Amino acid sequence: MELSKISGDIEKVVVTEEQIQKRLKELAAQVEKDYEGRDLLLIGVLKGAVMAMADFSRHLQRHIDMDWMAVSSYGAGTQSSGVVRILKDLDKDILNREVLIIEDILDTGLTLSWLTENLTSRGAKSVNILTVLRKPDAAKVSVNPKYVGFDIPSEFVVGYGLDFNEKYRNLPFIGVLAKHLYS
Ligand code: IMP
Ligand code: MG
Repeated sequence: MELSKISGDIEKVVVTEEQIQKRLKELAAQVEKDYEGRDLLLIGVLKGAVMAMADFSRHLQRHIDMDWMAVSSYGAGTQSSGVVRILKDLDKDILNREVLIIEDILDTGLTLSWLTENLTSRGAKSVNILTVLRKPDAAKVSVNPKYVGFDIPSEFVVGYGLDFNEKYRNLPFIGVLAKHLYS
């Protein structure tokens, strides 16, 4: 959906469609180098990482495996609940696999630190993280994503997979949600 259709809902655009695609292509080249001659299993975190997985994986000039998990750390609002639940587990065993988690955003880091530990405990050979966005708060927890698209300010953003009450995921860009919509 284009910005013009919902311009009143978006306070400002933080990352444009062009910037996202350019950055994902750069990260794909980096990942190709780092994983040369190695196994690569991309695990997308539903639903936020759907766009990133679709675009990033298509920039990769090599074979990959793809799997998905759905976890929840947020309720219906804009604050992390602190509770992580598995809503959908992986289809396959990841023993000895080289895992790259694909995530939309690293905010408090609760989700990704929990997920990294969970996947490591299943015997993965390696577990790394690619996140499209990272907020400064993420520095407070021990999550070290190997690949970061963009560092953004601590504001609630939507688009490119990120939602507010399930809406705005289908924006091709990332923008700050107008405060009047949730305060
Ligand atoms: P964390 O556990 O706080 O790092 O964030 C977990 C999840 O919260 C992310 O994967 C997103 O789905 C969601 N989230 C965090 N910040 C935002 C935001 O600014 N907009 C929309 N969703 C967010
Ligand atoms: Mg998410």
